[in-house]
Amino acid sequence: MTDNPIFAVAAKAQALRAQGADVITLAAGEPQAATSAVVVAAAVEAVRDPATHHYATAQGDPALRALVATAVAGDTGLAWSADDVQITLGAKHALFLATQALIEAGDEVLVAAPGWPGHAEVVAAAGGVAAPVASDEEFRVSAEALDRCRTLRTRAVILSSPGNPTGAVHPAPRLEQIADWAQQHGIWVISDDIYRAFDHTGTYRSILRVAPRLRGRAVVVGGVSKEHAMTGWRVGWLAAPPEIIASARLHVSRTITHVPTINQHAARAALCDTGTPAKAARDYRRRRASLVDALNGIDGIDCPLPDGGIFAFPDVSGLLRDRGWSSSADLATWLLVTAHLAVVPGEAFNAPGRIRLCFAVDDETLMTAIERLQAVLAPADYEPSAQQPKVAR
Ligand SMILES: Cc1ncc(COP(=O)(O)O)c(C=O)c1O
Repeated sequence: MTDNPIFAVAAKAQALRAQGADVITLAAGEPQAATSAVVVAAAVEAVRDPATHHYATAQGDPALRALVATAVAGDTGLAWSADDVQITLGAKHALFLATQALIEAGDEVLVAAPGWPGHAEVVAAAGGVAAPVASDEEFRVSAEALDRCRTLRTRAVILSSPGNPTGAVHPAPRLEQIADWAQQHGIWVISDDIYRAFDHTGTYRSILRVAPRLRGRAVVVGGVSKEHAMTGWRVGWLAAPPEIIASARLHVSRTITHVPTINQHAARAALCDTGTPAKAARDYRRRRASLVDALNGIDGIDCPLPDGGIFAFPDVSGLLRDRGWSSSADLATWLLVTAHLAVVPGEAFNAPGRIRLCFAVDDETLMTAIERLQAVLAPADYEPSAQQPKVAR
């Protein structure tokens, strides 16, 4: 089993730092900000409460599940109760539990290409086979493309909108077509909505809002990791039909017993705080524009403006050609060594010829990263203000 390639970049950056280099990173797939004070205070209060010091229920804190049910109801327009929700160790664990519940050995699950490697990893962990589905020019998958990859063993599709690394948001008509296709062929839809709050164009829709008829064959995955800068707290969830929840609860009970109660209290505070994700989304939108503008000012780089999420995902194939590099991995290694800037090569996402840069960092880090990119890659007379972002795709 190979490790997630994104962690390999982080390890290289860490090794350089250990040698004293001033490495900055746009490689991590997480907000750089600290978790909000209100969440930290809730966790501290929970630590002091002896009620959190003992075993609790496998499905998760009922009060947290009720808050999640309300949030999922808001996104989907459907009624959900605490019984429909399983609390997990982050969204990745929710994806793991969903695939464990749905897949028999040899079953196939369709995943977007380019796409986040974690989706294929959970499928493999369940004994399934992840089948990459090529997305279109705007990085969206279509019912036609899904159907071309469908076989008799196809059990589910994992959709993520906004996506990682592409930032693509699937508009309602596209979701409608995918829902029709899934329904026609009896295929489950696992909707990974972890970036739902970072919808820079106002086009995010839950597939269940567009197609409520899918309710009996859909799993909604979410969590506090990205929206609340809480990747280290490991709290996520799935909302799903009773048979999936029963399977997930049993798996949790037999393995981790339950998600740590203190962290669930922190997640409760996070779900009551709508201000933090809204402010983060505004900041990221501004930083997205600066980064995309700067990237498009560099010869050989073509960066679409992502509709959502926290990443720029430029095409660097022109640059690779001009400089004689054979892969994005060469460019990423060169940037790390020459500019002490960490980015993730597109190969990690099934997208050679691209790199992924995260703009969920503070303004100073982003500006330093941009200066370093320009210093090593852009012509000396480059003027950022004179550059317009290329047409949004
Ligand atoms: C699309 C996608 N889903 C899920 C996750 C995992 O989220 P969590 O940290 O809550 O497990 C990530 C993390 O990068 C992601 O990009």
